[in-house]
Amino acid sequence: MLGPHRVAPDTVLIPRLVPVGGGFGYVNSMVITGREPVLVDTGAAAHRENWLEDVFSVVDPPDVRWIFISHDDADHVGNLPVALDLCAHATLVTAPLRYPLTHPHHRVQHITDGESFHAGDRVLTAVRPPLYDAPTTLGLYDDRSGVYWSADCFGAIVPTPTVNSSDLPADDHLDALHHFATTLSPWHAWLDPILFGAYVDRVAAMELTAITTAHGPTITGHRIPRAFDTIRKA
Ligand SMILES: [Fe+2]
Ligand SMILES: [Fe+2]
Repeated sequence: MLGPHRVAPDTVLIPRLVPVGGGFGYVNSMVITGREPVLVDTGAAAHRENWLEDVFSVVDPPDVRWIFISHDDADHVGNLPVALDLCAHATLVTAPLRYPLTHPHHRVQHITDGESFHAGDRVLTAVRPPLYDAPTTLGLYDDRSGVYWSADCFGAIVPTPTVNSSDLPADDHLDALHHFATTLSPWHAWLDPILFGAYVDRVAAMELTAITTAHGPTITGHRIPRAFDTIRKA
């Protein structure tokens, strides 16, 4: 199906597609290949062999300087212990996890919504996505590439393996996005629609070149504002 592919000059998506009810769902992660390489989420343990092969075809383990975890659901931390073992020079950046970590505390740096860290040639900022399914979820915005990792937000079940959502007819993609947002990612902090709308606006106001997601194809170009509109209505 789909292999690792570049979504920006220093950003490689690690896709993993799974058949779901006649279509395809995604369990993606990402690698930022800048001066200080970053793993962004670690996929599911069930895909470990392929995940390790894909990720380390893009970056050598000793070169990885950061591992960012959006939240500690099993499809995001499934390969975290092995990644920490293999990437001996990496610091884990995350909100506090429920997940038990046996690795030394000096390798963990906690981050909250709106905080940033420097990864060599770029500043990476934790930005909570508009929708999520675990209370500590954080997305990650790269100021250099304009890519925003949105964790569980912007997911979509698609009819055929798809790299970029623009390869799908807009209505099909936005319907799938709406369906995922309303049925598969039901937790969000915003019971007040005005607060929720303001929060979506905050994320939409960032200078974005691409939205990457753990659970759907990448969103770029004119599809980005339409995707935010869809989330706003969800
Ligand atoms: Fe999740
Ligand atoms: Fe997820």
